[in-house]
Amino acid sequence: MVVPYKREPLTDFTVKENEQAFLEGIKTVESYLGKDYDLVIGGKRVSTEEKIVSTNPANPNEVIGRVSKANKEIADEAMQVALKTFETWKKSKPEMRADILFKAAHIVRQRKHEFSALLVKEAGKPWKEADADVAEGIDFMEYYGRQMLKLKDGMEVESHPYEDNRFGYIPLGVGVVIPPWNFAFAIMCGTTVASLVSGNTVLLKPASATPVVAAKFVEVLEEAGLPPGVLNYVPGSGSEIGDYLVEHPKTRFISFTGSREVGAGIYEKAAKIQPGQIWLKRVIAEMGGKDTIVVDDDADIEVAAQSIVTSAFGFSGQKCSACSRVVAVGDAYEKVLNRVVELTKELAVGDPSKKSTFVGPVIDQAAYDKIMRYIEIGKKEGKLLTGGEGDNSNGYYIQPTIFADVDPEAVIMQEEIFGPVVAFTKAKDFDEAIDIANNTEYGLTGSVISKNRYHIEKAREDFHVGNLYINRGCTGAVVGYQPFGGFNMSGTDSKAGGPDYLLLHMQAKTVTEKY
Ligand code: NAD
Ligand code: ALA
Repeated sequence: MVVPYKREPLTDFTVKENEQAFLEGIKTVESYLGKDYDLVIGGKRVSTEEKIVSTNPANPNEVIGRVSKANKEIADEAMQVALKTFETWKKSKPEMRADILFKAAHIVRQRKHEFSALLVKEAGKPWKEADADVAEGIDFMEYYGRQMLKLKDGMEVESHPYEDNRFGYIPLGVGVVIPPWNFAFAIMCGTTVASLVSGNTVLLKPASATPVVAAKFVEVLEEAGLPPGVLNYVPGSGSEIGDYLVEHPKTRFISFTGSREVGAGIYEKAAKIQPGQIWLKRVIAEMGGKDTIVVDDDADIEVAAQSIVTSAFGFSGQKCSACSRVVAVGDAYEKVLNRVVELTKELAVGDPSKKSTFVGPVIDQAAYDKIMRYIEIGKKEGKLLTGGEGDNSNGYYIQPTIFADVDPEAVIMQEEIFGPVVAFTKAKDFDEAIDIANNTEYGLTGSVISKNRYHIEKAREDFHVGNLYINRGCTGAVVGYQPFGGFNMSGTDSKAGGPDYLLLHMQAKTVTEKY
């Protein structure tokens, strides 16, 4: 019997030994910076001339690694290997697949601070954010392994005395897994292992900003005993091999996490039946958010302000769950706005490899430019109260930025900025606040800070988001505790880290035997 699932604890960096261990992790990562990483196809290393160069967003001259880049021909080779391997992997025992996840979780736990340090370097994550990212990856492995053990015998259905019925789940086939860079370990790991443990083989196309941490994870799974060909590592350009694999007739499902724009394109391309294709492809798409914290007129202002600052500026607002809009009711508006501005001015912005840093850089020049463009729009749409400045002379730094008195229909109230920018608007009452909160095309996370039981109940019913939080911030969902995923343009309504997630990677088969 496997022990019950429990979340991986987060590291307390006020403890000297933990701080020391993290610094050791940074040293370990520094010892292998700049190395080359090959593609992995059928367990074999394949090197290409063309490379993706992964750099440190806090210091773009520092090369994290140079990763071989697949073209369509190589991607097709990987597909053929994954198809062939599926014939054996689909018959492997679910218990064995779960054991590989448990062993991999153990290996990552042993090297936890090294993996976190790699996220500091490759994704620009401050310590606490990096630590939470790696802990979430460990959680996905421990949780999905156990979920597979629960599903392996199928579910109960009725039988007759003269006829036996059985209902069970079988895998789908080859999955193309396309993660984002912002949870470069957790989401890459979670979407990959959910696919594998369900009996599918995988082509993993990591995000081009963070391919090294994915290469390291592929090595972990090999060490944990994953047979060659089950997971194939195929970094490459989204528009070249991403499109190619999405449209490939042998692709059975796509597990994508990323922007609305790319996700909607994948959904559309996957729907078109290609010559030789004999199934309808399944698409799991987790997309963007425009997440709101509603502050009621009776709210605890300190709880509201702390929740807003953490949710808006943690990892520089580069979370799908980040708070980018605040709707405050009546008199609470001025009070919470003033306190949030005060707290924001105190935030430590800078190099994420320093323990004290709260706001690090944004991921790259393109993100920097995009966020700065939104800040310029914001200056026309609202009152800039703090921030609004950037510095990309060495690293892509943007000051945490607050706009007040913004119209609910304004661009910065409607479009996902994916940076450290939050806009405030005032509502006359709680009903109007919920209407404003729902007035976006997304539906991922949201929070309500209120003491009013009727208002809390109204939010439960009417605030249309996949993850609703009451009296706390809107980021930081925990695997197995707060299954995560949104409505509307936030995706296909799936819930990562939830009890029904693995079913999205399987199909049910009913077998009847007449006696
Ligand atoms: P992105 O859409 O730019 O890229 C995501 C992945 O898609 C990357 O691996 C990229 O290489 C790949 N890609 C790009 N073009 C492609 C194509 N044509 N075909 C196939 N693959 C392609 O997103 P990003 O910048 O990496 O991540 C940020 C976005 O992800 C934000 O919008 C954020 O809200 C969203 N996100 C959502 C969730 C969620 O659970 N809902 C979680 C994390 C991030
Ligand atoms: N799961 C991540 C969060 O909840 C995105 O913040």
